[in-house]
Amino acid sequence: MSPILDCIINKNTKKKPVWYMRQAGRYLPEFREIRKKNQDFIKLCLNDNIVPEITLQPLYRFNLDAAIIFSDILMLPHGIGQKVEFKKDFGPILDILNLEASYKITESDFLNNLKPVYKSINRVSKNKILNNKDLIGFVGAPWTLLVYILNRKSPKKKIDMGLFSDEYTIKNLFTIIDKFLKIHIKSQINNGATIIQIFDSWAGLVDHQNLEKYIYKPTLSLVEFIKSLKTPVICFPRNIKNYKEYVNFIKPDVINIDYEVNIKNILNHINIPIQGGLDPKILLSENDNIKKNALKYLNAFKDHPYIFNLGHGILPETKPETVKYLTNLVKEF
Ligand code: CP3
Repeated sequence: MSPILDCIINKNTKKKPVWYMRQAGRYLPEFREIRKKNQDFIKLCLNDNIVPEITLQPLYRFNLDAAIIFSDILMLPHGIGQKVEFKKDFGPILDILNLEASYKITESDFLNNLKPVYKSINRVSKNKILNNKDLIGFVGAPWTLLVYILNRKSPKKKIDMGLFSDEYTIKNLFTIIDKFLKIHIKSQINNGATIIQIFDSWAGLVDHQNLEKYIYKPTLSLVEFIKSLKTPVICFPRNIKNYKEYVNFIKPDVINIDYEVNIKNILNHINIPIQGGLDPKILLSENDNIKKNALKYLNAFKDHPYIFNLGHGILPETKPETVKYLTNLVKEF
């Protein structure tokens, strides 16, 4: 069994497996080289010659326990016919979703729109380098996707809740998102993804009274679906205030914590396997400081099933040598 599955299923605490969010990305010169020649990001995510190569780039360099498929959470709006573009130094920009047209999208239309994603997963999963390692598929959580679909760009620290005032439209959107997320998840698993991670990057924007409606119930629906496919699911509700309540409601197999989470507190309240935590900004400092901070997590979770990762994605300014140093440090722990 792979080290990550051993940690999740058998609750093995001896080995501390490791992978990183955004491990394939702009901090790698070999990625930037490819990116320069592929200006259209969505097109790049739909190129099944290049995506497997990008996905495996970090595994050629570092002793990681998983690959995460190179894709984006915004492939879902793309798949239901909402145009998505990435503008340099700005981020994603989405057209207005034509709700009527999206009702007419069938399962086979959707699978056809995203076919290269599944082909890429299939190709990567057959690569020998993944022997005894996992291939992580992922989706955005329903709430975070709703935010992008309606706000049509990344929100700042706050979002205008007026966007969500039309209950009827919101209900219909959640139904569409749930339907196609399940299709997307199932197809990733059928093509070789061994674990699914749900990214709820904007979970922190929801106040307590709305958590059940926007976060808990829609995410629970996905988690139960993924469990029914006998596949472990990792949830990352970034900046959520009450991880304990989230875990009790949704019961994921693993919870990824952000870098603001208090380690002692989480250990007192949560008994499922934990992933992540280390602030990616720490990776911009000297090795001694990186070691000190990584050991904080490794020591605190010594007797807890723990997958080493960060509290958010690797920053583009990170040196690849730093990632190597950190990975070896975790492996030697
Ligand atoms: O982790 C990995 O290595 C897998 C690849 C991955 C990407 N996006 C590639 C990517 C994953 C898991 C994602 C998830 C994703 N995408 C999230 C959830 C995690 C998070 O960051 O909170 C979100 C919110 C998105 C949407 C998204 N995609 C944004 C906001 C941006 C722009 C950010 C920026 O810096 O401009 C992206 C683009 C993106 N997705 C890049 C990568 C490597 C950068 C693209 C580039 O080269 O310009």
